[in-house]
Amino acid sequence: MLEIHFEKQKRTLKVEPGVNLREAAIAAKLSIYPHIKKILNCRGRGLCSSCRVEIVSGQVADRNEIENNNLSKALKKNPNLRLGCQITVEDNLVVRTHV
Ligand code: FES
Repeated sequence: MLEIHFEKQKRTLKVEPGVNLREAAIAAKLSIYPHIKKILNCRGRGLCSSCRVEIVSGQVADRNEIENNNLSKALKKNPNLRLGCQITVEDNLVVRTHV
């Protein structure tokens, strides 16, 4: 089992390796979406960028093409941004949401 700690929510989830970060959060009734984006999002298709998170610690695979395309402007301000829907959890993580 791995742990994902969500800083802002002050919650830690225990998950199996290989789980999707967004899906793990939803399964635990923890929203990674800010405000109205809880309703208006692309449901994990990598199209809306509303599931942006910052990986504070832990190892994740390199950004995929979807992330590089959707986060290109935001990465100039914060190079640690990722799309939660594109992250496969393979390590213990500390995550900051609503960034
Ligand atoms: S849920 Fe829309 S980009 Fe991740």
